[in-house]
Amino acid sequence: MARMKLRKLEEYLQGVDGFEQPKILLEQYPTPPHIAACMAHHMQAQHEDIEGKLIGDLGCGCGMLSIASTLLGAQLTVGFELDGDAVDTFRSNVVEMELPNVDCVRADVLQLAGSKWEKSFDTVVMNPPFGTKHNAGMDMRFLEVALRLANKAVYSLHKTSTRAYIQKKAQEWGARGSVIAELRYNIDASYKFHKHKSKDIEVDFWRFDISKE
Ligand SMILES: C[S@@+](CC[C@H](N)C(=O)[O-])C[C@H]1O[C@@H](n2cnc3c(N)ncnc32)[C@H](O)[C@@H]1O
Repeated sequence: MARMKLRKLEEYLQGVDGFEQPKILLEQYPTPPHIAACMAHHMQAQHEDIEGKLIGDLGCGCGMLSIASTLLGAQLTVGFELDGDAVDTFRSNVVEMELPNVDCVRADVLQLAGSKWEKSFDTVVMNPPFGTKHNAGMDMRFLEVALRLANKAVYSLHKTSTRAYIQKKAQEWGARGSVIAELRYNIDASYKFHKHKSKDIEVDFWRFDISKE
């Protein structure tokens, strides 16, 4: 069970400040509050992967997924983010919301494999860069790191068009992957300067099980 109702969680997440000036090359768009709330609620209600657990959030941005995890009772949540401006917003969000046991480390996620963070978390959650801005394969590089940092489960968003490839790579990396939900997600809406008409993209919400059966 989740301690907070889905609707209440979404209401809180609507108060999370987003990127002031999103950096397109870093694919900075926040997970919409409704999607973040559904993700976290599912993680706890269906798998008990949040309450009392150590949570890592890769490419945490302004903290949407970290804050959702904290609100659902994570013991400790650590976000990792490359961009200093996003780290500042993350920290001001958690201060404003008076949330304990959650912080953000400024770091390049791609440097975390083999670091002291290896196998440090029960659960890793992320909405990684999809690799559409001259950084092809970035989401897979994030996923490989996430699987090394977690002990039990990784939750992630990936474009639906890459589903078969992700399933194959997850198996190679020793994880049992399953698609929990298919979402529609409007990324361009986050970038005020986009002039062309934006459209939804199809995104899968994945759970990767890496617990020893
Ligand atoms: C799609 S946004 C998601 C933000 C946040 N997790 C959320 O759900 O609202 C991806 C985030 O990854 C960060 N990022 C991109 N490359 C990174 C890297 N190599 N290491 C750490 N963070 C990175 C971006 O700055 C951005 O905040």
